[in-house]
Amino acid sequence: MSYEYILTRADGRVGIVQFNRPKAMNALNRGVMSEMIEALTAFDGDDGIGCMIVTGNERAFAAGADIKEMANATPASMLDNPFIDYWDKLRRISKPVIAAVSGFALGGGCELAMTCDMIVASETARFGQPEINLGIIPGAGGTQRMTLAVGKALAMEIVLNGRFLTADEAQHHGLVNRVVPAEVYLEEAIKLAQEIAARAPVAIRLAKEAINAMYEMPLSAGLAHERRLFYMLFSTEDQSEGMDAFINKRKANWKGK
Ligand code: HXC
Repeated sequence: MSYEYILTRADGRVGIVQFNRPKAMNALNRGVMSEMIEALTAFDGDDGIGCMIVTGNERAFAAGADIKEMANATPASMLDNPFIDYWDKLRRISKPVIAAVSGFALGGGCELAMTCDMIVASETARFGQPEINLGIIPGAGGTQRMTLAVGKALAMEIVLNGRFLTADEAQHHGLVNRVVPAEVYLEEAIKLAQEIAARAPVAIRLAKEAINAMYEMPLSAGLAHERRLFYMLFSTEDQSEGMDAFINKRKANWKGK
């Protein structure tokens, strides 16, 4: 499948989506977002893929929603044609998605990275919600996910005063998983994705679902949800295989069933 705004490829069991609007700092227009969701949905339904990566280029992961496309929007036009739904569609991808971030991850780009399950950052990465400079606020989860990640005090500075976080600050505050040299950020993300993609596929999906449920439910409901998923895994061949492999001191051969 060839796309206009993204590049895609598979590296073993890892599906990679790369934004390809370098002249516009990978600004996220409708074309980028719809193609990204189409590609991720295809990887999500492909048994040969166990984990996905979304990335940009060294200078920019994505500098936000496309301001030129958004400039003449009205509330009615946004209701009629809800661009922000693409971030929700990303949230509903069932296999893990890792953002490999170098350079600017701003506005909708930062929100997109935060919607992914993990972030591997290059030491050049910069995270920010500068919408305030345009007379608006974040609209795809920035006020919520940033606050959950870094806490209220810092989130206020980021959203109200346009402060950017360096990669090290982002790691310190729990926004990113690891910070690596710029030359290897994609390789490191692929390595992490390969490790995850080699694990028991059904358990991986349910583990992602259980962790993300924490954002939606009070603790007692989240614990009950986790327990149901835990019990459910005892109906899979992979549970029998994993425990048998441990007992017999051999490597498990996962079936994804
Ligand atoms: C459209 C963008 C863009 C964007 C950059 N460009 N960001 N186009 N939308 N978000 C374009 C510029 O217009 C320019 O095009 C080219 O990319 C290079 O950008 P420069 O500004 O010349 O580069 P530089 O000086 O290096 O500055 C980089 C930058 C800056 C700091 C990232 O471009 C910037 O501040 N961009 C906007 C960041 C932002 O406000 N993001 C939030 C958007 S609102 P030309 O044609 O002039 O060469 C948002 C809301 C989300 O995301 C709501 C939910 C979906």
